[in-house]
Amino acid sequence: MITETKFSKLKELIEDSSESELIWINGYLTGLVSSRSVVAPAPKTGVKKITLVFGTDTGNSKKIATGFAQQLKKSGIQVKLQSLDQYRVTDLLKEEYFYVIISTHGDGEPPAAAKKFYDYIHANSLSLPNLKYAVLALGDSAYPLFCKAGEDVDGRLKHLGASRQLPVEKCDTDFEATASSWLENLVKTLSASPDDSVRPVPKKSTGKKTFEGTILTNTNLNGRGSVKQTHHIELSSTGVVYEPGDSLGLVPENPAHRVEAILSAVAINGNKKIAYRNEELAIRNLLSKKLNITYLPERLVKKYAALVEQEIPSIRMDLLNLLKIYPVKDATQFEEVINFLEPITPRLYSIASSLVAHEDEVHLTVVRNCFTVNDELCYGLCSDYLANLPVSASFEFYIHKNSEFKLPSPDKDIIMIGPGTGIAPFRSFLEERNATGSSGRNWLFYGDQHFESDFLYQTEIQNYLQIGALTRVDVAFSRDQAEKIYVQHKMTKQGSEFFSWLESGAHVYVCGAQSMAGDVERSLLQIIEDFGNKNPDAAKSYLSQLKEDGRFQKDVY
Ligand SMILES: Cc1cc2nc3c(=O)[nH]c(=O)nc-3n(C[C@H](O)[C@H](O)[C@H](O)COP(=O)(O)OP(=O)(O)OC[C@H]3O[C@@H](n4cnc5c(N)ncnc54)[C@H](O)[C@@H]3O)c2cc1C
Ligand SMILES: Cc1cc2nc3c(=O)[nH]c(=O)nc-3n(C[C@H](O)[C@H](O)[C@H](O)COP(=O)(O)O)c2cc1C
Repeated sequence: MITETKFSKLKELIEDSSESELIWINGYLTGLVSSRSVVAPAPKTGVKKITLVFGTDTGNSKKIATGFAQQLKKSGIQVKLQSLDQYRVTDLLKEEYFYVIISTHGDGEPPAAAKKFYDYIHANSLSLPNLKYAVLALGDSAYPLFCKAGEDVDGRLKHLGASRQLPVEKCDTDFEATASSWLENLVKTLSASPDDSVRPVPKKSTGKKTFEGTILTNTNLNGRGSVKQTHHIELSSTGVVYEPGDSLGLVPENPAHRVEAILSAVAINGNKKIAYRNEELAIRNLLSKKLNITYLPERLVKKYAALVEQEIPSIRMDLLNLLKIYPVKDATQFEEVINFLEPITPRLYSIASSLVAHEDEVHLTVVRNCFTVNDELCYGLCSDYLANLPVSASFEFYIHKNSEFKLPSPDKDIIMIGPGTGIAPFRSFLEERNATGSSGRNWLFYGDQHFESDFLYQTEIQNYLQIGALTRVDVAFSRDQAEKIYVQHKMTKQGSEFFSWLESGAHVYVCGAQSMAGDVERSLLQIIEDFGNKNPDAAKSYLSQLKEDGRFQKDVY
């Protein structure tokens, strides 16, 4: 029970809140209670000191590791907590109790921050007979290689002679319950003498929370003459909850014409039902909504070659091409192919809106991905699917939280570097800061090919400048003059001002293509060197400190 005063305050807050705010509060309290509820009995005997490392990209592993470290400390266990990118790999030989929380990204790869550690243990024949360890693997079962990085680390440490104290635990997107049950088991293991027989009993999972989105607007932002097609998409979705910096995830459908071409190439009845992951589904339905049929990874092309007993080069190929060039024997053999096809991978899009400005809406900035294969123009699966969705069409999506790409407190200055679709989260940041009246200054670096046709959200940006919501904007249109000018060149040009913002505590954000982010980081280092009067090593440690303080955040793809 709570006191009457507290209850009346609670009632006041409830009456003052919208439906979506109430949903958010509900989720927040549930998370808070569950994170406090792990019972970590103090070990009477047993281990007193451990190392807990995490490898994260979007902050989930870090959040879990930080929470665990606090709870373990309360239980009297001394915890050395470190991100894998800060971890000195050579220390591994000296460790005794070593616990890893690591997510999987890309196509079954470790997060960038864990790559150095992952490569080190795989490339070196270490001998770790004194190391006792356990791995908590984070992932998403919608991806074909579920929790692969965690499984790899677990398998490799075992291979190097370390003693596994708990079986590797794989957490899906609703990781809270499984993670706390892993911690409970870890605490039991640490408080008694290490015992391989403790098996985690995962708590009931709550499933991935999905939302229904209905298209309100779908317009091409590029002007005539542009080689790009970037769609501003507005979705209405009752009760959706997210924060600026989060992304929207969805599983796109395969185009009907490709599915029909596959069905006729193998002469199979598309209505025939077959079993798939505890469901009975018609083959047509499976091929259009569940299974990846485009650009199959080499591992599947190899499986296909073995099944049809033909020599096929080890390259990625569409299923339809495989079926045409290296046909299956009959429809029954095709069903065997279906058995090893992998699920359609979810695609993520940075959210370009703020709930404070648009309740129950999500906005996206999606460039239609295009490429050529044998001189034929082709489009990326998901961006093409989204670009073609008409008003009123609906699809299911989820929110991918990113606690490593978040606005600072409202009084802090921010510098946003986001060319092309990299502008998306910054539209969200600006909407949020404008709607909440933040006092911090906002500086945007934007760029694309041509001013005339590719200045996404130009009117909004100009308007923000006029009303003072944007303090300054620097733009780089790479192809409007003979020499190429990119955002990093504009940063360098404004180096002195850039450094003075850094010195007064500004947070720097980069969003967009990986290669651009690398160039931006190099220019940033140079600015720190030149305008901070630092040698290269001192500039590097200045930048590392920015990263450690959460003042240099990237969301790149
Ligand atoms: C955190 C995050 C945020 C993101 N935010 C945004 C955003 O705001 N806006 C945005 O537009 N994108 C964003 N992306 C990228 C987006 O998720 C998709 O990767 C992008 O839209 C391409 O997906 P697609 O399905 O259209 O293309 P895919 O079908 O996945 O194709 C991608 C590439 O694969 C190759 N390929 C595919 N099929 C074939 C084939 N048959 N033969 C040869 N090559 C082939 C081509 O090179 C093609 O360009 C983000 C990604 C991440 C991880
Ligand atoms: C671009 C991208 C690729 C991903 N690839 C995989 C994958 O191959 N396998 C998997 O199990 N999970 C995959 N995931 C899901 C993440 O592992 C999952 O969201 C996890 O909770 C992230 O934890 P982190 O925030 O600590 O990085 C991927 C997520 C993203 C954003």
